[in-house]
Amino acid sequence: MRYSTSSLLKAAQGEGYAVPAFNVFDEVSLRAVMVAAARAHSPVIVQLSTRTAQSIGVPWATRLFEHCRDEVAVPAALHLDHCPDRAVIAQVVEAGWSSLLFDASQLDFDQAMRQTAEVVELAHRGGVEVESEIENIVGVEDGVGSDRIVHAYSVERLVEAARGAGVDFLAPQLGTAHGLYKGRPQLLPERAARFRELSDLPVVLHGGTGLTDHEFRSFIAAGVAKINVSTAIKQSYMKSSLAFLRTAEETDAWEPGGLFRAAQRAVAEAVAPFFEVFGSAGRA
Ligand code: 13P
Repeated sequence: MRYSTSSLLKAAQGEGYAVPAFNVFDEVSLRAVMVAAARAHSPVIVQLSTRTAQSIGVPWATRLFEHCRDEVAVPAALHLDHCPDRAVIAQVVEAGWSSLLFDASQLDFDQAMRQTAEVVELAHRGGVEVESEIENIVGVEDGVGSDRIVHAYSVERLVEAARGAGVDFLAPQLGTAHGLYKGRPQLLPERAARFRELSDLPVVLHGGTGLTDHEFRSFIAAGVAKINVSTAIKQSYMKSSLAFLRTAEETDAWEPGGLFRAAQRAVAEAVAPFFEVFGSAGRA
């Protein structure tokens, strides 16, 4: 059964917690996230970058996800992260994913709104919900985006535009960035609160890796309902694999199954604390 991302977010919004949205890139990271969500009794959003969706292939990614989802007893939605590519969007709509992020942040305002409205129409016809990004969130996520602010608008204008295009949830600039922070970011939880004052649309926080528990809590208190985490997952996957491979080299024991198990364990451990901090643990 397909879960609606919006319903998960509305429940979170109503009860003052946020649903973790974890980027996965293969079967190992997908299983790790699902196992961790089941252990935490938490709803979860599994997301794939456009590049990952293209390299795994949308039909296979869909089957893998549905298989894992049917094995766990927690609500899990499948979401396409940052996608400017209408061909990939058409594929996930056809495959019946829960939702997608149409990334129009490199377009000027009028183009962004026109194209977002077209994507919403196509997606909603297939029962797929749309996250909207028309301001750009700083940092490149798997080949999509920019390291500097290219487009920024007022909260009022964004809310009006989102209503006009009929989007389901919003990814505005909140001072965070994708990837690792070099210094402390200038966070804007008050901006999230302003969105919540003006509208009922769930607000999404990108760039979760590297924020403190206190920073997460201030965003959740301001009404953020979905928090994205990617880099922390990639790091735990790669670092645990490196440690395993070093041992394999030292001992001359080359066992791929052990490598995958070590990576799955490491990713499940890396994501576990987020369910607690976001307050989603025990909600499913
Ligand atoms: P991080 O890579 O900083 O965790 O950000 C993830 C994200 O926002 C994915 O859209």
